[in-house]
Amino acid sequence: MSQKNQTLGEFIIENQASFKYSSGELSRLINSVRLAAKVVNHEVNKAGLVDIIGAAGETNIQGEDQQKLDVYANEKFIQTLTNRNIVCGIASEEEDDYVSINSQDENNQNKYVVLIDPLDGSSNIDVNVSVGTIFSVYRRITPVGTPVTIDDFLQKGSQQVAAGYVVYGTSTMLVYTTGDGVNGFTLNPAIGTFYLSHPNMQFPLDGRIYSVNEGNYIHFPQGIKNYIKYCQMEEGDRPYTSRYIGSLVSDFHRNMIKGGIYMYPKSSKNSNGKLRLLYECNPMAFLAEQANGKASDGFNRIMDIEPTELHQRVPFICGSKNMVEKAEEFMRNPEN
Ligand code: AHG
Ligand code: MN
Ligand code: MN
Repeated sequence: MSQKNQTLGEFIIENQASFKYSSGELSRLINSVRLAAKVVNHEVNKAGLVDIIGAAGETNIQGEDQQKLDVYANEKFIQTLTNRNIVCGIASEEEDDYVSINSQDENNQNKYVVLIDPLDGSSNIDVNVSVGTIFSVYRRITPVGTPVTIDDFLQKGSQQVAAGYVVYGTSTMLVYTTGDGVNGFTLNPAIGTFYLSHPNMQFPLDGRIYSVNEGNYIHFPQGIKNYIKYCQMEEGDRPYTSRYIGSLVSDFHRNMIKGGIYMYPKSSKNSNGKLRLLYECNPMAFLAEQANGKASDGFNRIMDIEPTELHQRVPFICGSKNMVEKAEEFMRNPEN
């Protein structure tokens, strides 16, 4: 039961009992994400003021330039989760391999692993456009007190116990699910407290926004090209409007509130698209389904995909249920 002016801290305590594995451990984990989000938010907010913007001079495993704030956010999230001794392992977009946290210690009873995209949309930092953080939580499948293994991280999205994002936008919000709906909390920066501002978030069943990088149009599969043309056609409530920020978190957030579809299809340049299954698509898919939306690779449910590698990419279509189903229809029948 949400109350007026409820803080995230109060909400976590109140809802702990309704979580099926309730032991307080997941609540502590969400609390740590809350703390790390505030620290990163503070840094993101002064990005234009200090010498923190721009490339850090390193590239990550995928050959992408790491921005200084990518590195900073990665450190802060890992540090917070490690210092508070909450999880037994972390995998991050910015780390080549997963990090084990005292998992071999037999006294370590921590059951959860976390996968994160510490800073999503990082190419937008230098131009003062919203960025985000995405996180995904699983129970480890190997026994506690033994070292975590890659299998603890390569779980299907349907096994997630929690997922969420932080959007560092015109206001900073933390939006998450533990499998019982989606709730959004807005940071009051004056006092550093998140308040429940968006209880029980839901994707409208239909929407009028499509979000895709149309610069890649000629490389898209025929089904996606046809669907884009369908969005642009003058008929019924169409043409739809096009909105693309280039930060998955922000594009998703807007579409969830207003109704819309986000697409990062495969292309003749990237056979699996660009987005990463484990720390971008799965958490967003969990949130989407919990908010009455849908997430697909064009043919299959995202959360049913069996992962094979930590940094695996997958085509991603996500948003209002009827829109995603329409896009899937076009994918199945590219000749029509
Ligand atoms: P990241 O900054 O974590 O690498 O993610 C960027 C992603 C995603 O946020 C966004 O939707 C997409 O890349 C944009 O890609 P394009 O510039 O190719 O459209
Ligand atoms: Mn990202
Ligand atoms: Mn990132």
